[in-house]
Amino acid sequence: MILEIFRRLRRCDALRFFFHWLRKPGQVGAVAPSGAALATALAAEIDAEAPGTVVELGPGTGRVTRALLDAGIDPQELIAIERDAAFCRLLRERFPAVRIVSGDARKLETPLRRAGSGEVRAVVSSLPLLSMTSEHRRAVLSEITAVLNGEGVLVQYTYGMTAPVPPDLAAELGVVGERANWVLANLPPASVWRYRPNGAGPQLPQGEGPRMSRAA
Ligand SMILES: C[S@@+](CC[C@H](N)C(=O)[O-])C[C@H]1O[C@@H](n2cnc3c(N)ncnc32)[C@H](O)[C@@H]1O
Repeated sequence: MILEIFRRLRRCDALRFFFHWLRKPGQVGAVAPSGAALATALAAEIDAEAPGTVVELGPGTGRVTRALLDAGIDPQELIAIERDAAFCRLLRERFPAVRIVSGDARKLETPLRRAGSGEVRAVVSSLPLLSMTSEHRRAVLSEITAVLNGEGVLVQYTYGMTAPVPPDLAAELGVVGERANWVLANLPPASVWRYRPNGAGPQLPQGEGPRMSRAA
């Protein structure tokens, strides 16, 4: 009886998410999934009519995936990359037409190749950048900008008051960001940031050779 109650509770997304957070707080980065208003605000930043692949990073239980599909993104053009194997299994059940790939955003090229990705035009990230070490954050963001290949848009939300990508790192990576939206109807309130190429290209730290640009 108690076991059955426990099993039923685990099927609820908020609790499922919370249990994942208990096991891996740094990786999951939030105690609860994004609310519907935040997921909708993220999806609104993507032009549903434009051609090309949209990559979602850190889909978790799929709130943002659902919002992207509801906004008109073609499921065949959507690739969702998630590090947690249990979340991946759940996402495959929920979104059979979407390519769900188990992988790490620090090595984006591998899961994108496995998914047979075309040109990536947008990345929508729910990755917990604030909970990451600066090395982890830099690795993830330089993978994202390399995959976007100097074009396209990165959409990222944050619960922090400042930009989710530190300005010096943004300049180094050759992107410029702006707050596109505040979502107060989320717990905690969040803001949505949009990053685009700054036109000047990446500024490589002294002593580093140029990084090859790669098509996904
Ligand atoms: C804050 S949760 C967001 C979940 C969901 N998109 C939402 O908005 O509710 C962050 C998600 O990113 C995933 N994640 C964290 N680091 C990752 C990485 N390096 N590569 C891929 N996924 C990662 C976590 O497993 C978790 O599902």
